[in-house]
Amino acid sequence: MAIQPIRLFGDPVLRATAQPVTTFDKELRTLVGDLTETMLNAPGAGLAAPQLGVSLRVFTYHVDGVTGHLINPDLSLTEEEQDGPEGCLSLPGLRYDTKRAYGVVAKGFTMYGDPVTLEGTQLLARCIQHETDHLDGIIFIDRLDREQRKAALKAIRDTDWGGAPAPVVKVSPHSTFGAAR
Ligand code: NI
Repeated sequence: MAIQPIRLFGDPVLRATAQPVTTFDKELRTLVGDLTETMLNAPGAGLAAPQLGVSLRVFTYHVDGVTGHLINPDLSLTEEEQDGPEGCLSLPGLRYDTKRAYGVVAKGFTMYGDPVTLEGTQLLARCIQHETDHLDGIIFIDRLDREQRKAALKAIRDTDWGGAPAPVVKVSPHSTFGAAR
């Protein structure tokens, strides 16, 4: 397990639709380990595999002192909503109030391939929705209203990382389980 560089907004891997995991092997467990270590080091409330350049449906979370992961998540959302500040390790330093469902039930798998259900409200629900969005190439500023989104894009251009050209997509340190073919 190792801390990996986090891909920044503008990197095409963050806009790709991640592939479902089909092989629950040692390499997958290494990926979960790297995600966990990188997330805790940042520190952040969650991290999705595309943020490490791996286009697979995997994320980790660290909310209210509980650390975990979920693979191939399938979400059911409450109708009730919440609104509050949200940020992303791929957009360092930027936070915007973002509307989300208040609660979520997420079905998926552990890194050993066992089915698991993750339920949460408030911050955990926000995190699960944010990280699952990453697996669909959605970044939280996409959820903002038009004016707010415009302000966010301007703020990104004004950061020291936002004006840089999109980085070259590197070969992942992990197998992509066929996703790169
Ligand atoms: Ni994020």
